[in-house]
Amino acid sequence: MSKRSYGIAIIGYGGMGGQHARLIGTTEVMRLTGVWDIDPARLQAATEASIHAYADYASVLHDPDVEIVLIATPNHVHKELSIQALQAGKHVICEKPVTLNSQELEEILKVAEQTGKLFVVHQNRRWDEDYLSVKRIVDERRIGDLFYIETRVHGSRGIPGDWRKQKEFGGGMMLDWGVHLLDRLLLMIPEKVTRLYCQLFHVTGSEVDDGFKLLLTFESGKTALVEVGTTHFIALPKWYAAGTQGTAVIEDWEMNGRVVRLADQGSQDAQPIVAGAGFTKTMAPREDNSVTVEPLPRIQTDVRDFYRNVVEAIEGKAEIVVKNEQVLRVMRLIDAAMLSDRLRQVVPFEEI
Ligand SMILES: NC(=O)c1ccc[n+]([C@@H]2O[C@H](COP(=O)([O-])OP(=O)(O)OC[C@H]3O[C@@H](n4cnc5c(N)ncnc54)[C@H](O)[C@@H]3O)[C@@H](O)[C@H]2O)c1
Repeated sequence: MSKRSYGIAIIGYGGMGGQHARLIGTTEVMRLTGVWDIDPARLQAATEASIHAYADYASVLHDPDVEIVLIATPNHVHKELSIQALQAGKHVICEKPVTLNSQELEEILKVAEQTGKLFVVHQNRRWDEDYLSVKRIVDERRIGDLFYIETRVHGSRGIPGDWRKQKEFGGGMMLDWGVHLLDRLLLMIPEKVTRLYCQLFHVTGSEVDDGFKLLLTFESGKTALVEVGTTHFIALPKWYAAGTQGTAVIEDWEMNGRVVRLADQGSQDAQPIVAGAGFTKTMAPREDNSVTVEPLPRIQTDVRDFYRNVVEAIEGKAEIVVKNEQVLRVMRLIDAAMLSDRLRQVVPFEEI
């Protein structure tokens, strides 16, 4: 653990900027030097909360007490603000989605390399318990070999706020939630993606996607459905993982769910049942004693480990957890997903 506390300034003191300020206030490794926001009302709110409000962005970049700049503005200015901070000799933490496409990220990474400063993206949902629980189930092969997985978030309130509805600000659900879901999925399945198909939805009539379905195929044939919806009054499970020896489901944020595992292959063929207007053997339910139903693994997690890792990486004491090549891969996949939607076709994906 680092022995000192790093000066950090937050750019964009809105919803997420405020959340960072609260969390940083409870970590020992960083201390907030102040915030900058283009909205005077947000600067006023900072002052009222006894947080220093900078006069402009240049003042942040000139402040020698600021070692790390945290960008929590709408997405369209992430690139420009990150590059300016790196060039001023600051380390940068940037909110997700890092940029609007992979090319913009490559531009930032070039500058980070030239300056030798740390650039890291806040992929905080790697610390979510639901993800860590499913990852453990898959890693420990509790459901045998995974062959299909669904990761989704469903809500019913449409796209919130203002800028998230607009293309020029980098709005839309693929860039908003898609980056989180893809980031975690790719860590869970350490394989090349070979092809994908994506359909964006515009149910609420917004110019950007208010949801999407993205189907990815991995090298081994494993398939994943990544789904976001904002007009769903009944939410489908956050995770559904199907393996050769069992199935796991996580229903919601409260971690309701279960793991059903095959206990006994059973020698008996299924007894056919009358189902609906027909008759089926294939879909007949299992006898209770041929499966076990187990609770989800529960995992202690603390998202403040993100900030601790940033500081340890700056000091060369630890490898950075959120690696830029991982983030770049997600952005390349998003570029390909957008293309698939435009072409209405499956598109091949080439890893680099
Ligand atoms: N990682 C997460 O869990 C998470 C959650 C929510 C939002 N975010 C990300 O955080 C960022 C901000 O989202 P939000 O929900 O806080 O938005 P928000 O609208 O609540 O806040 C954004 C703030 O940035 C300010 N701003 C706009 N342009 C600016 C500029 N050029 N310089 C300085 N300030 C500027 C706005 O005035 C506003 O106060 C987005 O990139 C979003 O994707 C991440």
